[in-house]
Amino acid sequence: MTIPEFQQYKKKGKKLTVVTAYDALFTRIVEQAGLDVILVGDSLGMVVQGKPNTLSVTMEDMLYHTRMVAQAAQRALVIGDMPFLSYQVSVEEAVRNAGRFLQAGAAAVKIEGGMAVIDRVEAMTRFGIPVMGHVGMTPQSVNQSGGYTVAGKGEREAEKILEEAKELEHAGVFALVLECMPVALASKITQALSIPTIGIGAGPACDGQVLVLYDLLGLFDDFVPKFVKPYAHLKADALQALRRYKEEIECGKFPTDAESYH
Ligand code: KIV
Repeated sequence: MTIPEFQQYKKKGKKLTVVTAYDALFTRIVEQAGLDVILVGDSLGMVVQGKPNTLSVTMEDMLYHTRMVAQAAQRALVIGDMPFLSYQVSVEEAVRNAGRFLQAGAAAVKIEGGMAVIDRVEAMTRFGIPVMGHVGMTPQSVNQSGGYTVAGKGEREAEKILEEAKELEHAGVFALVLECMPVALASKITQALSIPTIGIGAGPACDGQVLVLYDLLGLFDDFVPKFVKPYAHLKADALQALRRYKEEIECGKFPTDAESYH
C-alpha cells in the first residue's frame, strides 16, 4: 500500500481499515486479516508500557516498535506516531525525528495538533516525508484539555477544528485522524477535505476507522472508551488459559506423556 493508493480509497468511496500494532507477531496477524494500514501508535505507552498516558513515550521506544512492525509488514502501509516532544520544540527537530521513523521502516509519520504544527507539516512534506495529521481530542495535550473528553462540542470549538483540518490539508498532510468528536463535525470535515479522514470515536462518516489493537481484541480493559467495540475477549481467554495451566501443573495433569521425551 502506497500513499497514492491510500488516497485513491476516498475517490473510490472505499473505506480505509486502520489498526495499531506494536510488534511483529501482531503485525503478521493484522496483515493476514487484510487490514490496509498499521499505525505504530504512541498508545503503546498505555497498552504496552502500562503508563497512565502517552507523554513519557520516547523516540527510542517508538523506533524500537516501528522497526519490529515495519520488518514484519508485507503489504500494509506502516505509519509511525511521533511521540510527545519529538516535533514540538522546533521545525529542525521535527524533520530530523520524522526522518528517523522513515529510516526505521515507516512509510509516513503522524503528528497531533492544528495551527501549531503547520510549519512542521510543510517542512516534512517538502523533504519527502508523508505526514498524517491528528485533530479533535489529542492525547498528548491531555494536561491542557483536562482529560480524554469529546472535542468540538460547542460551535466555536467545532469551527476551530474545521479550520485546523483545512489548514493541515493545505500544508500537505495526506490524511487526517479525527479523534473523539461529534458525528456532525467529523462528517463536515470529511466532506470539506479531499484527503481521507480516519475516525476514532468520530462516527461513521469518516473515510476510514482506526482502533487500538488491544482495545478491539478485548485485551486492555483498564479504560474502555465508549467508541471502542471489542471484537474479541482475549483477556478473558488468556486468564482462563493461564488459570488452567496453573491448576494442571499443581495437580500433576501437565505435562503428560504427550508433552514428554523418552
Ligand atoms: O496512538 C495511537 O494509537 C493513536 C490512534 C489511536 C489514533 O494515535
